[in-house]
Amino acid sequence: MDFETLKQQCLCCEKCNLCTTRTNVVFGSGVSHAEVMFVGEGPGQNEDEQGLPFVGRSGKLLDQYLEAVDLSRDKNIFIANIVKCRPPQNRDPLPDEWNACMPWLQEQIRLLQPKIIVCLGRVAAQRLIRPDFAIMKEHGQFVEKDGIWYTATLHPAALLRNPNRKPLAFEDFVALREKIQEVCQHTYVGEV
Ligand code: URA
Repeated sequence: MDFETLKQQCLCCEKCNLCTTRTNVVFGSGVSHAEVMFVGEGPGQNEDEQGLPFVGRSGKLLDQYLEAVDLSRDKNIFIANIVKCRPPQNRDPLPDEWNACMPWLQEQIRLLQPKIIVCLGRVAAQRLIRPDFAIMKEHGQFVEKDGIWYTATLHPAALLRNPNRKPLAFEDFVALREKIQEVCQHTYVGEV
């Protein structure tokens, strides 16, 4: 299966009840040859309305960090979420909803074969790195699993609530740039 076919299937997903309340499935966006993938928690209201990840206030902040290290959704990364549909009133997704949705992300990872996955926030890190991942202690560290380097940084929404933590996230992006230079082939040279 190719990435576009996966997307078309995902857009029609009815594997959990969130399909009855969503406006749009938020499959993810970016380039399909990305070596670096970002994974957030799940769509909020703006994302649900537009069908795109990280387009609200936290998305704007994320874009600033991305730009600081020469990354952008149009050029060299892919951004997705653990859960593809917005839970009503932004409640936390239920375990059934996480579990129903994870195969979409697993398939995205399998097809994309990223070299690096950056978890945005604790929830993504606990699903993708380790269930007891401690975001404030372990953000910015890299671990290799099945040939992919995983790291986590603070969720941009958390940075909007605690602006004094922004320098911590900035350091994570600087460390990410170094890791990209070490393990990626074309992220910083433009051509695939
Ligand atoms: N927060 C997330 O985790 N994901 C989005 O797409 C938007 C906000």
